[in-house]
Formats: sequence, structure tokens, C-alpha cells
Amino acid sequence: SRGMGMAHVLLAAALAMVAAAATVSAWPAEGIQPLSKIAMNKATVNLHGSAYVRATPALLGDQDEDTVWVTVKYGWENPSADDWIAVFSPADFISGSCPNPSRYPGEPLLCTAPIKYQYANYSANYLHGGKGAIRFQLINQRSDFSFALLAGGLENPTLVAVSKQVAFKNPKAPVFPRLAQGKTHDEMTVTWTSGYDIGEAYPFVEWGVVASGGNPTRTPAGTLTFSRGSMCGEPARTVGWRDPGFIHTAFMRGLWPNKEYFYKIGHELSDGTVVWGKSYTFRAPPTPGQNSLQRIIVFGDMGKAERDGSNEFANYQPGSLNTTDKLVEDLDNYDIVFHIGDLPYANGYLSQWDQFTAQVAPISAKKPYMVASGNHERDWPNSGGFFDVKDSGGECGVPAETMYYYPAENRANFWYKVDYGMFRFCVADSEHDWREGTPQYKFIEECLSTVDRKHQPWLIFAAHWVLGYSSNSWYADQGSFEEPEGRESLQKLWQRYRVDIAFFGHVHNYERTCPLYQSQCVTNERSNYSGTMNGIIFVVAGGGGSHLSSYTSAIPKWSVFRDKDYGFTKLTAFNHSSLLFEYKKSSDGKVYDSFTIHRDYRDVLGCVHDSCFPTTLAT
Ligand SMILES: *[C@@H]1O[C@H](CO)[C@@H](O)[C@H](O)[C@H]1NC(C)=O
Ligand SMILES: *[C@@H]1O[C@H](CO)[C@@H](O)[C@H](O)[C@H]1NC(C)=O
Ligand SMILES: *[C@@H]1O[C@H](CO)[C@@H](O)[C@H](O)[C@H]1NC(C)=O
Ligand SMILES: *[C@@H]1O[C@H](CO)[C@@H](O)[C@H](O)[C@H]1NC(C)=O
Repeated sequence: SRGMGMAHVLLAAALAMVAAAATVSAWPAEGIQPLSKIAMNKATVNLHGSAYVRATPALLGDQDEDTVWVTVKYGWENPSADDWIAVFSPADFISGSCPNPSRYPGEPLLCTAPIKYQYANYSANYLHGGKGAIRFQLINQRSDFSFALLAGGLENPTLVAVSKQVAFKNPKAPVFPRLAQGKTHDEMTVTWTSGYDIGEAYPFVEWGVVASGGNPTRTPAGTLTFSRGSMCGEPARTVGWRDPGFIHTAFMRGLWPNKEYFYKIGHELSDGTVVWGKSYTFRAPPTPGQNSLQRIIVFGDMGKAERDGSNEFANYQPGSLNTTDKLVEDLDNYDIVFHIGDLPYANGYLSQWDQFTAQVAPISAKKPYMVASGNHERDWPNSGGFFDVKDSGGECGVPAETMYYYPAENRANFWYKVDYGMFRFCVADSEHDWREGTPQYKFIEECLSTVDRKHQPWLIFAAHWVLGYSSNSWYADQGSFEEPEGRESLQKLWQRYRVDIAFFGHVHNYERTCPLYQSQCVTNERSNYSGTMNGIIFVVAGGGGSHLSSYTSAIPKWSVFRDKDYGFTKLTAFNHSSLLFEYKKSSDGKVYDSFTIHRDYRDVLGCVHDSCFPTTLAT
């Protein structure tokens, strides 16, 4: 509505004033997408006879690998610390016209950002001898690659030499599967990326029960893609654009709870031959209410990083690889993952989405990987979101909503519920208005109110921005401990329906509160909660990988544990009356904070504060 639009303008203006006033604590502290530092529109071409770039091998993935190392040798007679090596894909980044040239004075010569880069001096003797060698890790991203030597730094790039192209044996091969629970517990979805449109090959998944000995089933997949025109702005519409290929989703239905299934994605070509992906297994989810061991990982803001040290030494999301690696090592000890917003921080550089799906594939191919939307997925001015900021780099949610499946009614509205055994998760979309009277508020109330707590006692709320409590410094600088208008709208729902734990990201650190009722701790107990349920525990788990955020110096009474480090959280339900929460650091995977909740059904039913509707004493 128009009224809300004005509220946004005022909010944005208020935030801008706060940002201008805050000198030390930048908002938020998360660095700049390395690719955005390259002034591609200013690039000139001045190929130099003595300069060369050579990449080997030319044929990648001859054993059907989807991730390979390429050695790039380069040199020329005029080496400088400003020189850099860019990886372009598609390999031909020179011909072709630039979209929206009027944006720049004179038509730019080059109008595609590289997919990654490294300074030429990363190779030790480059500055002295004029010769260098760097190893890059490449993933199968559907196109060929070339490597370029550029002088002039990132601000005034001049193309000096280009390599011959290198390419994967099958650039179209199906890669990087990601599982997600469907709309019901007996449905698992698998989403993947390929270069095959529906006219060229039929996408499908072949699957069945491990050890059944029976014939596997083949289920066809749907195919989606999106075009440059569906991006909302720059750089996604211009230098950051890269063709996303085809994204396929298949539904494996009628699963038997807890059974182990295998699956294999594939594409059937018109001559009947099949191009296969790799084979994986997963365990089917428990039925709602089922009494069995259930373990859940929750974190936000992980981002991605490059194992070859490119894009400025992986410094954009410094903790990202540690978090990923710890979760890969621990695959046998959890069942489902919630990554609550800020996935790759592609910020409009679409190549980064493939790189992110590749980084998390060892997890997402085996465990349902449930995602939420964050500001870096969705936010763009005047695009119907709650925050009028440019954090998505023009993506306005389109890549996130296409690359990952989640059981929302309308994937443009990133809110959904997940029943996982004794848990119910209500995942909100903090990039869209959540206040009373909105469709999202209605969804949240519906999700929280329709769960049968004697069978699903553990009720969890999650959203990206901190709608609950955080003693992070940039909130404190504004005199609040939350996102403005966050809990004012939702608190009464959390209280009425007795949410156990509310999780948030966005703030890049870890913090846990006592069980709270209207900003007051309802108990002095710090780690072993039991009895009548009369408060909600708030957890900020935004230390997945991006630059860390600072806290206020004064610690609020409700803040039980703070850790400014990279980490993730884990919930373990042993049964209907016993829940364990743990916070682990990504550097060593060890537990640094934990608490338990012991509770019976009557403890949820007991009336406290405003959790029950008015009753009568009449008999
Ligand atoms: C390499 O070049 C970059 C960019 O010019 C510079 O920041 C960095 O310090 C240089 N490193 C070495 C080892 O010379
Ligand atoms: C936690 O509290 C319960 C109930 O008060 C008690 O039985 C149990 O011994 C406590 N556990 C620990 C580790 O303190
Ligand atoms: C629930 O699990 C906890 C932790 O394993 C155990 O101590 C408790 O006895 C279990 N309760 C029931 C009712 O099975
Ligand atoms: C990643 O983990 C290693 C090994 O524990 C640790 O030395 C390093 O500091 C961690 N990196 C970050 C950014 O926390």
C-alpha cells in the first residue's frame, strides 16, 4: 500500500542518517563483493606481442569430474604489482555487444565480469622474472573458460594477453544436486543445474530404496531458467550477468520414513542415451510426531569462498570454507540443514551462484538443505520488498528463488513450514513485510497455531534479519536491540503459540538469550530449562562465514552467551521431552555453548502471561 511505501522511505532515510552518523561501526560489516571492485566498463584492449597466458589441461573432467584444477602460466616484459589474471567464462568475453551502453559514456569494450581473478604477483617471482604460474580451481559451469592477463589494476584494466580456451568434456552435464524436503514429510525434492533445455533432453531422477533389490523408479523433473531481463538492476543486468543454464527439480514422493534411498540425476537424449550425474543416498524424513533421534543444523550468512585463494585470497567470507568443511566432516551426525539467508553473496555476479551450489553440494546432495531469503538474495529498491536497499546487486530474489527449492506456496514469497518429526519450523521471509495485516503475518500465525504440540513439541521460528533480540553494535547505536518493527509485530504470536527458539542471521556473530517474556528473563537458569514454558529463547546464528559483527560493550541482562567467531548451531531432539541445543565453532567443530530443555506436554499447555485465551471460572 502507499502508506507502507512511505514508511519504507522514512525507514530508509532514518537508516541512512544512522549510517552517516556511525563512523566506526559500518552497517553491516561484511566487506565488498570482490568482483564489484573491477571497473569492467573502463577496460581497454592493448594486446602485447611479448605477453602470453597458457592454460593446461585444455580438456577438463575427462573422468567426468565436475571440479578440476587448471595451471595457468603467464608472463611479459613489463610486469607490475597491478597486473592480474582473470578467469572468464564463456571464453569469448570480447565479441558481443554490451547491454545498456547508454549507462556509460562511450560504449565499453568489455562488458562481462570475470568469474574469478587473482593478482599476478600471487606467483612469487613474477615481479622479478616477469613469469608466473597460478593454479585455479574450476567447476563445470556449462561454458568454456579463458584466462586473461590484465594490467592497470582493477580500476583501469587493460587486456594484455588471453589464453586459448579450455573446456569440460561435457559442459552441459548435470551437476551439484541439492535436496530439500517437499510440502509434506514423505516428499524429497532434488534440484540440480545442467546445460540441457527440455527440447534437447528429458531431465529425470532415478531412485529407490537402498537394499530393496527392486527396480528403481524414474521420475521426470521440471525445468526452469531465467533471463537477463528478469534481473532488476546492475550489476545483475549488466556486467554481472551470466547465463544460469537450466535448473531442474524432481519430486520423489511416497517415501517411507527413515528409510535409506539412493538417487541419480540424468538427462535422456533423443537417441535414448542417458547423461548421468553421480549417485547419492539420503535418509527419508520422519513422520510428523515420530519419536526418534532428530538432529538439525541452523546457521546464516555463510557465503562462499575459493579454495584456490582467488578473489582476493578468499577474504570476502573468511569463515565460509571452515563452516562448509566442518559440516561435510560431520555428515553422519545430523539430518537436515537450515541456511537462514545470505547464501553466496553473489550480489548480482551470477557466476557465484554456481560456485556456491558447488561448495555446498557435498552437504546438499545428501541432506535436505533448506534455505531462507536474506537481504543479499532479495533486496532491491522499489521491488516490493520491505527494505529499499541494493544488497542483492539487482538479483531481486530471482536466482535464489530458482536455484533452490523450498516448500512455499509461491516461491516469490519466501515463507514456508517444515514438519520434521517432533519439530515444526516456521521459516519467515524478512525481506517482505511481516507486520500485522500482511499475508506473511497470516502465514506465521497459521504455521504457529496449527501444530499439535503433544506430538510436535519443538516449535521453531526462523528468519534472516534479527526480528527478536541481538546486542550487536549497529542496533545498539540506534538505541534498539532488534530490527525496527521486528518483534513489536511478532512477539505476541511467538508468546501466544509458545515458540521454543527463534533463530536469526544477518548479524554475523553468535548470541543466545535467556527465555524471554517482554525483554525480561523468566528464569535465572542458564543452561538446563524445565517446567512450565513461559519464555522464548532467541538465538543469533549469523556467523556462518561473512565478516564478523561487534557487540555493545554493555551486556544486556538477557544475553546469556556471546561469541564473535564463525560457527553454527545444532538442535537434537532425543524424544518428546528432551531437547539439546549446541553452538559449535567452525574452526574446530567443538561445542562452546549449549543448553537443554526438559519438558512434558502439560508444561506447554499451562497458561502463562498472554499465552492462553480468556477462560471462565464458571462450573
Ligand atoms: C600483489 O599486488 C597487490 C595489488 O597490487 C598488492 O596489494 C599486494 O600487496 C602484492 N603482493 C605482493 C606479495 O607483492
Ligand atoms: C536439569 O533439571 C532437571 C529438572 O529440574 C533435573 O532433573 C536435572 O538433574 C538437571 N540436569 C542438570 C545437568 O543439571
Ligand atoms: C528422553 O531422552 C533423554 C535424553 O536421552 C533421556 O534422558 C530420557 O529418559 C528420555 N525420555 C523418555 C521419556 O524417553
Ligand atoms: C579456519 O580453521 C582453521 C583451522 O582450525 C583456523 O586456523 C582458521 O583460523 C579458521 N579460519 C577462520 C577465518 O576462522
